[in-house]
Amino acid sequence: MTDTTPAGALLAPAKPAIKPARPYFSSGPCAKPPGWSPARLGTESLGRSHRAQLGKARLQYCIDLMRELLALPETHRIGIVPGSDTGAFEMAMWTMLGARPVTTLAWESFGEGWVTDAVKQLKLEPTVIRADYGELPDLAQVDWSSDVLFTWNGTTSGVRVPDGEWIAADREGLSFADATSAVFAYDIPWDKVDVATFSWQKVLGGEGGHGVLILGPRAVERLESHAPAWPLPKVFRLTKAGKLVEGVFKGETINTPSMLAVEDAIWALEWAKGLGGLEGLQARSNANAAALDRIVEERDWLGHLAADPASRSKTSVCLTVEGADADFIKKLAALLEAEGAAYDIAGYRDAPPGLRIWCGATVDTADIDALGPWFDWAYESVKSA
Ligand SMILES: Cc1ncc(COP(=O)(O)O)c(C=O)c1O
Repeated sequence: MTDTTPAGALLAPAKPAIKPARPYFSSGPCAKPPGWSPARLGTESLGRSHRAQLGKARLQYCIDLMRELLALPETHRIGIVPGSDTGAFEMAMWTMLGARPVTTLAWESFGEGWVTDAVKQLKLEPTVIRADYGELPDLAQVDWSSDVLFTWNGTTSGVRVPDGEWIAADREGLSFADATSAVFAYDIPWDKVDVATFSWQKVLGGEGGHGVLILGPRAVERLESHAPAWPLPKVFRLTKAGKLVEGVFKGETINTPSMLAVEDAIWALEWAKGLGGLEGLQARSNANAAALDRIVEERDWLGHLAADPASRSKTSVCLTVEGADADFIKKLAALLEAEGAAYDIAGYRDAPPGLRIWCGATVDTADIDALGPWFDWAYESVKSA
């Protein structure tokens, strides 16, 4: 047979035979835990008052499970608040900032969002320490006599702080960690964290809507001794007559929670406990990140946006694609979505064009492994189109 392919034309490789069984790679809301089904959720607390004995017991159980799985010391309080991670972090900013100078760290979009809040909304004049997408700022520059705001894992660049060593043990200011893509994936040294926030929608594969607020003793001291210069809406108020509202940390939520989201979180937490807890979750995330790294290593057209492996995320892993602009990435991601091979893998809208693959614990490693041939197929297909 005569080959009629024009010289120089590229042939896309054959479509791979094996698809990821669960092609859910979004960086939030993230894949549900394996085996999850709405039919498996507890529903007895639905259609009832969340302040009835049952509702309160389920909220408290959820809090207890989170404490256990995070290995949170007794020194720290943990509560469920409105507004997902954003609500929890803003609640902390609005209630505690203004007492001393502020430093904000930003190396991607979410950290930059907290800078905007501090500058434009709270009219603070923070010291801002920035780095470009893919890099971490110089953490040694941080002045711990100020309150310090940072993102433990920058979800839009795939860059995280490597550990808590850089946080001064004798700090005068408070450390505020937006830890939404970090908790349940890394060891968090709680003695270095005064405030941490997260949402169930990330590593647990739970629902958005609610945030989780963790307060160390020095944060409580701040709340009880500092009255912000600005008004506080009801959903942000954590003190009454100068005293912490302890009910928030016992399941007495400020306003009405979604008990369905709470039941969903309980299911995910029980799944996590069944894996061996924090270690089990971390092992899954590490295995996923390692599997994705193998795929990257095998292809010279794929790279990591986070140059330094020590600060490379194990959850929101961001990849560079040689020669790809935003349009190329859009087409590649759309192609994989249309095939049911990978959902939601285009990088964040403000980040440099690239791919972002969630490697948190709810993703199965076999599904990451299956992505390699699909990347090849989609890359060549878009290039030759
Ligand atoms: C680091 C970080 N902070 C904040 C948010 C906002 O989270 P939420 O939508 O749960 O408020 C996200 C979501 O992706 C995030 O990754």
